[in-house]
Amino acid sequence: MKKVKINTVINNRTYEFSVAPNQTLLRFLREELGLTGTKCGCEIGECGACTVLLDGEAVNSCLVLVPQIDGKEVLTVEGLAKDSKLHPLQESFMDHDAVHCGFCTPGMLMSAKALLDKNPDPDEKEIRTAISGNLCRCTGYVQIVEAINDASEKIKE
Ligand code: FES
Ligand code: FES
Repeated sequence: MKKVKINTVINNRTYEFSVAPNQTLLRFLREELGLTGTKCGCEIGECGACTVLLDGEAVNSCLVLVPQIDGKEVLTVEGLAKDSKLHPLQESFMDHDAVHCGFCTPGMLMSAKALLDKNPDPDEKEIRTAISGNLCRCTGYVQIVEAINDASEKIKE
């Protein structure tokens, strides 16, 4: 299959590469760039474990083909911490014990970041809607919702 040329920014770093047009962003991140923080669950858009931001929008990277990121910016969970300092959402997930096995956590964090970037003061319903595409099979959602709410308070301070 003929490869296509892509220019993109991933976690604030510029990339130019050639890729098979049928490769998914999820597989590219994990297998070509080694960014394994983005998790591979269902690969059919059902679980949200693969959520990343594409130009600020939360997307399921298993449903995005790499050519779709040409000229766009991708943020993965590896890009959340700055200068070795965790993002307030990451701190808050730890403070609220909102991480058990951690498989859903990167996707939850990215969906929450997309929400707080657009709406710094969400109510509980808005938080639950924002993470409605992210499935957690072990923590449950109460601590996760509390963690996102608390992070929004801290970001506002
Ligand atoms: S792996 Fe993409 S939604 Fe499940
Ligand atoms: S912490 Fe295990 S699936 Fe959410």
